[in-house]
Amino acid sequence: MNGVVSISPSIFQDQYGRNKRKLRISVTDRCNFKCMYCMPEHPEWMKKQDLLSFEALYQFCDFMVQNGIEKIRITGGEPLMRLGVVHFIRNLQQLRHKGLKRISITTNAHYLTKYAHDLKQAGLDDLNISLDSLNPDQFQFLTKKKLKPVLEGIAAVQSVGLPFKINAVLMKGKNEDQILPMVNWAKHQKIPLRFIEFMPLDGDQHWTKADVVTEQEILKVLSCQFHIQELKQEHEPARLYRLNDEYDVGIISTISHSFCGECDRIRLTAQGELYNCLFATQGLMLKPLLDQLITEKDETIRQILQQALYQKTSTYIWHKAEGFHRIHQHSRKISMHMLGG
Ligand code: GTP
Ligand code: 5AD
Ligand code: SF4
Repeated sequence: MNGVVSISPSIFQDQYGRNKRKLRISVTDRCNFKCMYCMPEHPEWMKKQDLLSFEALYQFCDFMVQNGIEKIRITGGEPLMRLGVVHFIRNLQQLRHKGLKRISITTNAHYLTKYAHDLKQAGLDDLNISLDSLNPDQFQFLTKKKLKPVLEGIAAVQSVGLPFKINAVLMKGKNEDQILPMVNWAKHQKIPLRFIEFMPLDGDQHWTKADVVTEQEILKVLSCQFHIQELKQEHEPARLYRLNDEYDVGIISTISHSFCGECDRIRLTAQGELYNCLFATQGLMLKPLLDQLITEKDETIRQILQQALYQKTSTYIWHKAEGFHRIHQHSRKISMHMLGG
């Protein structure tokens, strides 16, 4: 060996050579919040009997890790609303020696005072926490829930020593006034913060381009207070900016700057549908196969998955023409609360 690090291709590679390394599993579509950029006003919850069992999910994760998946993120809805999720995380530890490097969760933090300690004990590596405003009234308006338990939940993960990042989705005229307050709050506590451009994946499909606070607009606001230096984008959706040489803020700008060329993710809904892209209009129903994923069937599912993932398009039509939302407004049945971001 001459010191060159070789990266082995995963079994799951798409037609553009992108290896699939990250699996995002939604364990429930239910949520105690109603964030306006996500939940429909009148959600029709998935039926409990249609959800994949944790046993089936574990078998799937085992299979996927053996086929190149290195990072698993558990999402929802709100994943902590599904009983048994902590136990599931504990079980996933058994996959570490097979190649699993990271187990994460994306949560609204409401239940973290109850679960932070157990999650740490179960071996969770880190969390992403959604927090879109530090103003209690605005927070209530955006989520229909109180801010206080969320801040307490954040304090709870800090006290058990679990690493976390904050995600804030910005919407025009709703919470764009939070850019500087949130950055100052996060900078003061040395908490990683990422702003996210509002994407056309809200439950009631009210999204319009005019609602998006773009990366350029965010930078303009930040430049009033900070000297900004753009950092090289690593293998993740956020672009990082260094403020006053001392604090890095991230911006996830799917709308104004896509990172499809780097995409290494796969998503599974709580009822076992596979999505090869956040913007895919249809998933592939795997539940019948996953309910009986035993060694003899591995080859069948491997082939089905390989084919489905291979077909992932280079980028979404939405980047080529602004028409994504218009085209799919009526055909797309899935929203963020089922895909987990
Ligand atoms: P990692 O899995 O560790 O890379 O974390 P993440 O930053 O992707 O996780 P998180 O759940 O916090 O995602 C933050 C947001 O990034 C999501 O809610 C989406 O808005 C956006 N995002 C994540 N994955 C994708 C993706 O594959 N495509 C696009 N366009 N946006 C994504
Ligand atoms: N646009 C952008 N981000 C969204 N999220 C949910 N819905 C949207 C949307 N329409 C993000 C939230 C949360 C994660 C689960 O998904 O920030 O962190
Ligand atoms: Fe619930 Fe998260 Fe959607 Fe908000 S973004 S409604 S917390 S699933």
